[in-house]
Amino acid sequence: MPDIAADNVVESAEQTRREDALIEQVVASFSGTPDPRLKTIVESLTRHLHAFVREVRLTDGEWEQGIDFLTAVGHITTDRRQEFVLLSDVLGISMQTVAMNNPAYANATEATVFGPFFVNDAPLIEIGGDIAGSAPGEPCWVEGSVKDVFGNPISGARIEVWEADDDGFYDVQYSDDRVAGRAHLFSDDLGNYSFWGLTPTPYPIPDDGPVGTLLSATGRSPLRASHLHFMVTAPGFRKLVTHIFVRGDELLASDSVFGVKDSLVMDFEQQSADTAAPDGRNLIGATWSRTRFDIVLAPEG
Ligand code: BEZ
Ligand code: FE
Repeated sequence: MPDIAADNVVESAEQTRREDALIEQVVASFSGTPDPRLKTIVESLTRHLHAFVREVRLTDGEWEQGIDFLTAVGHITTDRRQEFVLLSDVLGISMQTVAMNNPAYANATEATVFGPFFVNDAPLIEIGGDIAGSAPGEPCWVEGSVKDVFGNPISGARIEVWEADDDGFYDVQYSDDRVAGRAHLFSDDLGNYSFWGLTPTPYPIPDDGPVGTLLSATGRSPLRASHLHFMVTAPGFRKLVTHIFVRGDELLASDSVFGVKDSLVMDFEQQSADTAAPDGRNLIGATWSRTRFDIVLAPEG
């Protein structure tokens, strides 16, 4: 009488042996890779992808669905829309890469995800200028300083700022070529800066493609917590790409791209329409807000 149970144990050991052997075969196929870094990456990628496929015991149908999904991600990607980066964003891979490549350094300001809406050559504004242009929204006075980790002011730091309007759109999503909600300025001799922007409001990441389908299939929201983007550069310092977030925003804990860091959550103080603006600007009866963001740059390298 054959011992079926014992045979199955043997079969299962045989199954494991076959699966293990395949991984070693694939890894070995990369053994002649001349670039040692590329060799490390493809070998590790092979081991991790196989571990994933084996852990979930991926079916043929699921493999096909995965291929169809990645094909759709490729098809919707153009030079204006990068669905692969969006996929990396919603899986937290972008933030993990940001975290690893901007290691904690003393009291230097934390970095966060870059996002797809930065544009080179945004207009130059003076200190105290307005980045909003024709973008609708509540005026927000933003001021702060740029310093090194010892507290020395950094003058002439280039500060790029960009944000969505009140309707949740960046200018690059408008149907015309207007430039709005973005500018660059330079810190003054004392390392200080200020500008008028818009009080940040929440908006969804582009969710009409396969990444949006993934979010809805998994019950996740496409909304980003309200934020204002900064990119700060100065010779001798590490480039800082970051945002500031609004204290009290209920989306802080569920930002769709995991960009929120406690150290980047700021107080945005609401001001009534009859409160005088810091620079004497006539706000024509509108409410406004103000915030302060003191930036600390890590040294380069
Ligand atoms: C953004 O903040 O602009 C953004 C970041 C990641 C994905 C989509 C948008
Ligand atoms: Fe954004």
